[in-house]
Amino acid sequence: MSERSRAERVASFFEGLWRDYVEITPSAEQIRLLFATDNPSLANDHVAFRTFDREPIAIQSLERPLLDLGYRRFEAYHFADKKLDAWGYVPADPAEPRIFLSELRTPELGRESRAIIDRLVEQLEPAIVESESVFRSGRPWAMPSWEDYCTLRTESEYAGWLSVFGLRANHFTISVNSLREPADLAGVVARVEQAGHRMNAVGGVLKGSPQALLEQASTLADRIVVRFGDGDPHEIASCYYEFAKRYPGPDGRLFQGFVAASADRIFESTDV
Ligand code: NI
Repeated sequence: MSERSRAERVASFFEGLWRDYVEITPSAEQIRLLFATDNPSLANDHVAFRTFDREPIAIQSLERPLLDLGYRRFEAYHFADKKLDAWGYVPADPAEPRIFLSELRTPELGRESRAIIDRLVEQLEPAIVESESVFRSGRPWAMPSWEDYCTLRTESEYAGWLSVFGLRANHFTISVNSLREPADLAGVVARVEQAGHRMNAVGGVLKGSPQALLEQASTLADRIVVRFGDGDPHEIASCYYEFAKRYPGPDGRLFQGFVAASADRIFESTDV
């Protein structure tokens, strides 16, 4: 694959992800417009996905289309309380977004939740991971019942979300570094709040620090009405928007990783 066709594939990958994301996260398009007008160079810092540690969609299989697009594994992260493992991926071209891919350690869940997840993943064809379109396949299994969703959500909010929304962008992230103004994260948050959007305040709205080389904040997820497998509609949290500012490390290069303590709280942007 030539560099030009690789870059075009990456661009169209993110365009498809964005269309799918704003469909269930209408606030994201409004928030993007708050900044896009003054900042034609507005860039995505990263996009994040959630999955189960089950084949055919465990990270080791699901990452293959990303590697084909030129991404490489950068650093592993672990979240003991949330029972998650994750990888940060860096792009072939630094102008492209980073990717954060996490998976739920299902063996650590209770028997009932494991059985529900078994019934979801057994509906998958192995060929699902053959192309990058897997990341906007949405829910690749039948909609769970409200009862099954509640069982999962009680044990793991992440599992509940994943059972309903499946494989798609869980959030996009505005790169504060790409903005002319506001140039700092506090200014970005102030503008988002002034426009009437609520921020995730768990552990403080502004997470991380210049010393940690990464500062982050996120909105609270939008809420949408979903019809569950047993036919009943319920309003639940869909996706959220994140904002990140990166700082150069001692070597003078911009920090490329993630800060586990901050990411841990950002996961809670889809909590009730
Ligand atoms: Ni993120």
